[in-house]
Amino acid sequence: MDTHAHTLLSKDVPSKTPDQQRVKTVVQDLHRVLLDFMEKHKITHEEYRLATGILVNTVKSGEESLLYDVFLEAKATDIGNEGRAGSPEGIEGPFYLTGAPKLNAPHTLPQRPDESGDVLYFIGRVTDTDGAPIAGAELDLWQADAKGQYSNIHPDIPDWNLRGRIETDAEGYYEVRTIVPPPYEIPKDGPTGVLLTALGTPHFFRPAHIHVIVRHADHEPLISQLYFRGGEYTDNDVAHAVRDNLFTTFEPRSGSDGKAYEAKYDFVLKPKR
Ligand code: DHB
Ligand code: FE
Repeated sequence: MDTHAHTLLSKDVPSKTPDQQRVKTVVQDLHRVLLDFMEKHKITHEEYRLATGILVNTVKSGEESLLYDVFLEAKATDIGNEGRAGSPEGIEGPFYLTGAPKLNAPHTLPQRPDESGDVLYFIGRVTDTDGAPIAGAELDLWQADAKGQYSNIHPDIPDWNLRGRIETDAEGYYEVRTIVPPPYEIPKDGPTGVLLTALGTPHFFRPAHIHVIVRHADHEPLISQLYFRGGEYTDNDVAHAVRDNLFTTFEPRSGSDGKAYEAKYDFVLKPKR
């Protein structure tokens, strides 16, 4: 995968020209913080080479943004959520891809004929901050399969499996059929895993989750990730990204035979300024 393009496109917003003054302010401060940190711990040249080697190796070994996402991304979303109108944002993680197939109603995420996992209907509504329904909002969804693997990232899965884009109807409602995702274990053997092991992490799991980016021309895009109340690892996520307002309601789907569940989440988008 083209790492560079992924990074530039992953938020699917026109990449803004960075504010030069902002860049200068924050990068200078980061530099100062890091120099102070090195002085404080008397970081040796050898330790310095080791640390930069870890950063280089995460990219070389295909972990892309995994290391930073595990340690830092949730903090960025917390800051984005301070005083925020509309639904909270959640971490994007390293596996979003642009260009997932657009699906027609009734929506079913692309899946193998024998896709493992219990059936899940992900449903809800998209409104604006005044509570007015937003018709034609796009939900760009991606999730792991029953083995905790993502298509187009992990091997032996059809392209775009469990990835797709759907739209809300005239009243702002959406419904998509998929499977219940399992908890996701990040790679243990790569640079991120080695570092977490050194820190004594008790496990490498993230709780089960569904990723979504909600978009509409007149509204700010929302990157979110939704969790299931009571699910394993919701209180000890290796990426520390679970927040109270990112839980779906998760219930057996009434009237359906066999195992089927319904997860409901309503999104509120804020208008573009
Ligand atoms: C991370 C987040 C995810 O959603 C995921 O599937 C894997 C890793 C992360 O924050 O590192
Ligand atoms: Fe994920």
